[in-house]
Amino acid sequence: MNFTMGILGFGGIAKFHYKVLAEKIPQITIKGAYDINAEKNESILEHGLLVYPDADSLLSDADIDLVLISTPNNFHKDYAIRAMRAGKHVLCEKPCMLSSEDLEEVLAVAKETGKIFTVHQNRRWDRDYLLIKQVLQEGTIGKPFFIESRVNGARGVPGDWRCVKEAGGGMMYDWGVHLIDQILQLFDCPITELYCQMFNLKYPEVDDNFKLSMKFENGTCVMIEVGTFHFIKAPRWLVHCDGGAMKIEDWGSGVDVVKELDTTMDWQESVVYTAAGPTRTMAARPDGTTEDFHIDIAEEKTNYKLYEMLIEGMETGDYSKVAVQPDEVRRSTRVMEAAFRSAREGILIKENI
Ligand SMILES: NC(=O)c1ccc[n+]([C@@H]2O[C@H](COP(=O)([O-])OP(=O)(O)OC[C@H]3O[C@@H](n4cnc5c(N)ncnc54)[C@H](O)[C@@H]3O)[C@@H](O)[C@H]2O)c1
Repeated sequence: MNFTMGILGFGGIAKFHYKVLAEKIPQITIKGAYDINAEKNESILEHGLLVYPDADSLLSDADIDLVLISTPNNFHKDYAIRAMRAGKHVLCEKPCMLSSEDLEEVLAVAKETGKIFTVHQNRRWDRDYLLIKQVLQEGTIGKPFFIESRVNGARGVPGDWRCVKEAGGGMMYDWGVHLIDQILQLFDCPITELYCQMFNLKYPEVDDNFKLSMKFENGTCVMIEVGTFHFIKAPRWLVHCDGGAMKIEDWGSGVDVVKELDTTMDWQESVVYTAAGPTRTMAARPDGTTEDFHIDIAEEKTNYKLYEMLIEGMETGDYSKVAVQPDEVRRSTRVMEAAFRSAREGILIKENI
């Protein structure tokens, strides 16, 4: 089956959707777009699309089956509700909603109208993340006890709506939601402890850097860090397991894995004399007790899978086929809310999330 899409908000990410659909998904045709800023009309036309004069004319177009909401975050809720009430399925950009309350309202409309409401959590198909997931699932290096997932920039927050609180700006909503969603996909047990520190180094209204620590019921601890003033980069991923460790330096660098082969240790012979004095605990492992290997990043990007699953959901009417499910979005929204509360009040949150 073929579907026709309309776009609300024709900025940076809308063009990314356009490219993915054009290259990979012939079953979805984009008919046109509405952008509040008339200066964007030229770009809409250059992409061979129809310019709608307002949102209502797009939403009342009987040809449109699916609406992509790719405006700043504060417009997602109103557009999602209006689109579903107009009989359209909705693919909403992340973060889909700015509160659990808003999300529940939107999900209630999805239920009432029988329309799909799903979210573009496309970083579930990032190749670095898929590598980490693959090694963890294979169990080659045992169970993770500490995971660090971070993105480090040093240019500050992009000088658009992302600096404005009312628009849903800030790094938790911009990047945090992706990194949280990735981690939540790894474990099917609740978070039992959460602590977050947020910084307003140069942007008074929104978090420009944050550090979020979470402990899961299975004992795994995760630290998610988003920096926009990090002039020295730390690895994108660092994962410590009970039988080894792995590191991904940067998005495209592949994973370096160290696997433990032998747990026996001759402590007496392992004293190392460092610049700070002798130590046995921090001495290197004896030769032959570990194995190092590298796995390259996959060549093919699979970031179009979300669309394939959405098409299956629309075709069959079976919304469980859609990649990003309401309960998953509920959970990531609750994690972000807890993170904001923890940072605001300076408290450790001990609740099951
Ligand atoms: N999934 C991802 O990887 C990813 C990446 C970037 C952005 N996003 C999300 O996509 C959304 C848009 O981000 P962007 O980077 O494209 O921003 P952008 O500023 O480049 O584009 C937003 C567009 O929406 C238009 N707009 C603003 N208010 C509008 C309204 N009420 N109605 C119609 N149009 C309106 C603006 O004029 C602009 O053209 C945000 O929710 C953002 O979080 C997701």
